Amino acid sequence: MFRIGNVQLASNLLLAPIARYCDLAFRLVVRPLGGLGLAYTELINPRGLLERTPQSMRLISTEPADQPLAVQLCGCRADELAEAARWCEAQGFAVIDLNMGCPVKKVWQRGGGAAMLRDPETAARVAEAIVKAVRIPVTVKIRLGWDDSTIVAPELATALEAVGIAAIAVHARTVAQRFSGPARLDEIARVVRAVRNIPVIGNGDVRSPADARAMIERTGCAAVMIGRYALREPWVFRDTHALLTNGTVPPPPSVDERIALMNRQFEHLLRLHGERRAMLAFRQRVTWYASKLGIRRIACEPLRHALHADEYWRWIATVPEIAGATASDR
Ligand SMILES: Cc1cc2nc3c(=O)[nH]c(=O)nc-3n(C[C@H](O)[C@H](O)[C@H](O)COP(=O)(O)O)c2cc1C
Repeated sequence: MFRIGNVQLASNLLLAPIARYCDLAFRLVVRPLGGLGLAYTELINPRGLLERTPQSMRLISTEPADQPLAVQLCGCRADELAEAARWCEAQGFAVIDLNMGCPVKKVWQRGGGAAMLRDPETAARVAEAIVKAVRIPVTVKIRLGWDDSTIVAPELATALEAVGIAAIAVHARTVAQRFSGPARLDEIARVVRAVRNIPVIGNGDVRSPADARAMIERTGCAAVMIGRYALREPWVFRDTHALLTNGTVPPPPSVDERIALMNRQFEHLLRLHGERRAMLAFRQRVTWYASKLGIRRIACEPLRHALHADEYWRWIATVPEIAGATASDR
């Protein structure tokens, strides 16, 4: 069991916020597989929430089966963030998370996301305003710093704990690194040593249950957040939880289970967003799932321009690699 503030979670494994991918449809298919403690919305602009813009309402949409869920806010104005957090609390969200790591220029140029790493004192004051506005736990997701000469994660973590932040997730790269170069586990360990009583959540490059265990062992972090690998292998939470609790990883899912999961996600997308948006959202995901099914990239070509659900159902029924899967695997 793992706790963030007063919120008890079923495991110490978290699904990372990934804009456009870790959406409601994906969360709804991952959760029943087991092992997941907490998921996040993708980053949401607090002003958009306060104005109830259609995009914000879509990003924050959830269902009873999608719990517990953290809302990730991304902004820099303490008053807006506090008001948006209060609204999220009233909607029943379990945790508020503040993004201090987004490296996208249009985000940090406005003072949100990774820009906060440049001024830890102000960042802590903004976080404090949210903590004071709500009773639910407030967490923060950070990177190590802007670049190698300005690593601030340990000092920022200390300051965030002092203002009442309940947990800190650390993506173990600088902003300058974006997503390249290995995640730096020694820097997560420094953040673990810098805080006194709150859990640190390690994040970056976990690509197997063994990677997650190594991150915990090497850094002392209390929990692990997994992003991109979970998009390809949604069973990673089930498998990692099994490895951490009884030392073994269950057998991999069958071809049929993988196809059923892919189909369920597609059906959720259709139900939630309608045919056109579902098709656009699903194209990329199909190629990820396909790689685990042994389907060649080229075989996914017919879906690249597909706009109708029928085209997906026809494809899945006829793609040779699936049709030819061995009897034992099915
Ligand atoms: C396409 C993409 C979108 C992302 N969107 C978000 C986001 O909305 N909020 C956030 O805090 N991090 C976001 N991230 C960063 C991830 O949460 C995570 O920190 C990063 O991918 C490293 O973890 P991983 O190696 O397990 O994927 C995003 C990453 C990618 C690749």
